[in-house]
Amino acid sequence: MGEFIMAAQNGRNIPMEDKIFGISRRANEMKEERGADAVINATIGALLDDDGDLMVLSSVDDTFMGLDPEEYASYAPIGGTPAFRRAVIKAAFGKYEPKGFTEAVASPGGTGAIRNVIANYSCPGDKVLTSDWHWSPYGTIASEIGRGIATYEMFTEDRKYNIPALKAKIEELLAVQDRLVVIINTPAHNPTGYALTVDDWKQVADVLKNVPPEKKVALLVDAAYIDFAGDEEEQRAFLPVLETLPENVLPIMAYSASKTYTIYGMRCGADICLAPTKEIAEEFRRVCEFSARGRWSNCAKAAQSIIARIFADETLLEKVTAERAEIRQMLLARGKAFEEEAAKAGLAIVPFDGGFFVSIPCDDPDALSARLEKEGIFLVPLAKGLRVSVASVSEDKCRLIPAKIVEAMKAEAGAQA
Ligand SMILES: Cc1ncc(COP(=O)(O)O)c(C=O)c1O
Repeated sequence: MGEFIMAAQNGRNIPMEDKIFGISRRANEMKEERGADAVINATIGALLDDDGDLMVLSSVDDTFMGLDPEEYASYAPIGGTPAFRRAVIKAAFGKYEPKGFTEAVASPGGTGAIRNVIANYSCPGDKVLTSDWHWSPYGTIASEIGRGIATYEMFTEDRKYNIPALKAKIEELLAVQDRLVVIINTPAHNPTGYALTVDDWKQVADVLKNVPPEKKVALLVDAAYIDFAGDEEEQRAFLPVLETLPENVLPIMAYSASKTYTIYGMRCGADICLAPTKEIAEEFRRVCEFSARGRWSNCAKAAQSIIARIFADETLLEKVTAERAEIRQMLLARGKAFEEEAAKAGLAIVPFDGGFFVSIPCDDPDALSARLEKEGIFLVPLAKGLRVSVASVSEDKCRLIPAKIVEAMKAEAGAQA
């Protein structure tokens, strides 16, 4: 890593190049050299068709093209347009009608939503808790604002969500800090594809009910992939459990429109609270809007207008939902294909239910992914394994990858012996 010349390091660990974008760059270079057929680029976190082109919901695209200048050229209010704030709550909760007090505050994508929760519900120097398998920008976001990340082992030996590890870590952290942000990314967790069951959620709630009343917890549900995990209503069956929590535990959903509406580059999301009291909900709105003003001011209005229009027109909403269901089927079929071939090849994968990614536990992820790169297979090495984006490669390619990984694992074991 280079020395800092002019910039301040401020406790951050800043690499020379973003890991995933670096791998993708090398995949593209190989494509230029050897042709598209020689390369499988399973690094990208966007839904691509079988030819590697971005899949865009045409109903959303048409809505975008039909916007009036007032709907995109003028500033949006800091917390989002009133119509967006109402619409995004419906988008996030589906048919579920919360009993608590909800407020939504716009953010630039789910990323901005995560940032504002960490900034407002933890203190400088605090650790934010998430699982050992996690989306690495959590660490980046935390370190940008003087926080760190602590992790618990996500799965037990019998492949269940690891409630005892979560409980122990919450207790450990709350013994030394007064506040805690707990991030749970579900369903279709990145990078494993796991979805907490309703029973998992009940156990999480039981753990949180035991947090001492003088301590404060923000339970951040990162739902970036909620509409790509399976049936949209079934995937929201856990929401009532969030409303059983005591007053010192605030559930907040970090909602992302990036995947659900295929508008990744329009940077649209929201923080949505499910507060037990009006005062907590109003405070939530006030602090998130204050943070927004000081970080990015208002968010892009075009995406807010698109979502507001979709929820104001039942026929359009049905069209968007049906179109999404179709591309979700394609994604889920790819995941199943990968799972089937992994079983045939004897490749162990981390518990997977659906979504954009599958993970493979392994000993030396960097060495294994470097070996696979030479074969034209580009995956993302993580701390505990490799991540495969089934969202970005065809079903045929999903069927090819597991045996190739097994081969590379054998070669790697031979090289190290
Ligand atoms: C786990 C997870 N959370 C949140 C996000 C936020 O995405 P965005 O900021 O594009 O809405 C992503 C995107 O890749 C993600 O993978």
